[in-house]
Amino acid sequence: PINGLGVTPAMGWNNWNAFACSVNEDLLISTAEKMAAFGLRDAGYEYIVLDDCWSLGRDSKGNLQHDPAKFPNGMKYVAEKIHSLGFRFGMYSDAGSYTCARYPGSLGYEKQDAITFASWDVDYLKYDNCHNQGLSGTPKITSERYRTMTDALRAAGRPILYAICNWGEDFPWKWGPTVANSWRMSGDIYDSFDRPDPRCPCSGDEYSCAYPGSHCSVMNILNKAASIIDTSLPGAFNDLDMLEVGNGGMDDEEYKSHFSFWAAVKSPLLMGNDVNVMDAKALSILNNPAIIAVSQDPLGVPAVRRWRYYVNDTNQYGQGEIQMWSGPLFGGDQLVILLNAGNSSRTMNATLADIFCVATGIAKEIQEDWDVYDLWANRMDDATAQSIIDGTSIMGAGTSVASFYYNATQVSYKE
Ligand code: GLA
Repeated sequence: PINGLGVTPAMGWNNWNAFACSVNEDLLISTAEKMAAFGLRDAGYEYIVLDDCWSLGRDSKGNLQHDPAKFPNGMKYVAEKIHSLGFRFGMYSDAGSYTCARYPGSLGYEKQDAITFASWDVDYLKYDNCHNQGLSGTPKITSERYRTMTDALRAAGRPILYAICNWGEDFPWKWGPTVANSWRMSGDIYDSFDRPDPRCPCSGDEYSCAYPGSHCSVMNILNKAASIIDTSLPGAFNDLDMLEVGNGGMDDEEYKSHFSFWAAVKSPLLMGNDVNVMDAKALSILNNPAIIAVSQDPLGVPAVRRWRYYVNDTNQYGQGEIQMWSGPLFGGDQLVILLNAGNSSRTMNATLADIFCVATGIAKEIQEDWDVYDLWANRMDDATAQSIIDGTSIMGAGTSVASFYYNATQVSYKE
């Protein structure tokens, strides 16, 4: 870990998924006000992050200029407003000559721009990868390009969480922990559970969509994450990209799955929806305290995939599949997720041996010692617990997920 920041995954909101370049002062401030009013700030959503398209160019001294039409009072004013509402302020730049939307990038201006961001009271920097002048292709070249900003931020003297966005290029999970607080590991998410985007068909688990404007479904990103997720550490996390919950392209079960997995694997949780038109369903997903507790668990260990099977009930977009993920939580608890990404109901189970990754004999001995909570029902649920262990739990049609945690500290739910 590079600084003391972001020990648990960053939580907040970023405008890109819902607004792209349509940004301005009012959007950021009104979003912060709404998030506070909805209780989302108190639920843990801390950073209000401005993405691309905020600047105009550089002045004669090379200092970055904000666009006065979008930000008439300047960036420091926005930061002050956001701080006064109890949030922290995030901004965006690019480790290249231009940002992805062709605004000025910070390559060659790292020190100067870090000082500018610090002077604007910025608390978080998202740092993109477009127009990087070919300074990529090996982990050394790419990591050095991003490390220049790590050093510049440190020298600028203000604590600034550093979230790099290089779409998984050059294996950032191998060098990320010494460079940044988080690193994107895939191309851009789009608002679909498993449908390939016709404009950019994603296929295959290793598909990395390593260019801007790519479109990866939740399942594309999750299946890529499965092979690398155990590289995340407290303060240094794989970033599966911003959330799509509330944007309308998935059904509620799919959004619950999306949110469950992003929390379980300790991805940053940056809301990506229009908070002004957020409905109760989206809010009830995003503010689920049990799922947020999984994300912010002090142990900081990502759940991992224990098994995956392809199933015959293929959906129209490809082969269906079922998966089980689990991982430890603070205090000896264990998180379990069953995922049915097929198109019909299935009976699924997870053995204790698989959930705890132990031999069957040991699993038998620990079988009686667990309470089980359904994190979406937010209650203790012995019947579901037993049905999972017995192999009689029925997962609903279409895509659905059940999340549970086994509490080792409270023994014998049968007493
Ligand atoms: C890239 C990033 C996105 C977003 C856009 C902005 O595509 O991956 O998250 O920041 O650039 O142009």
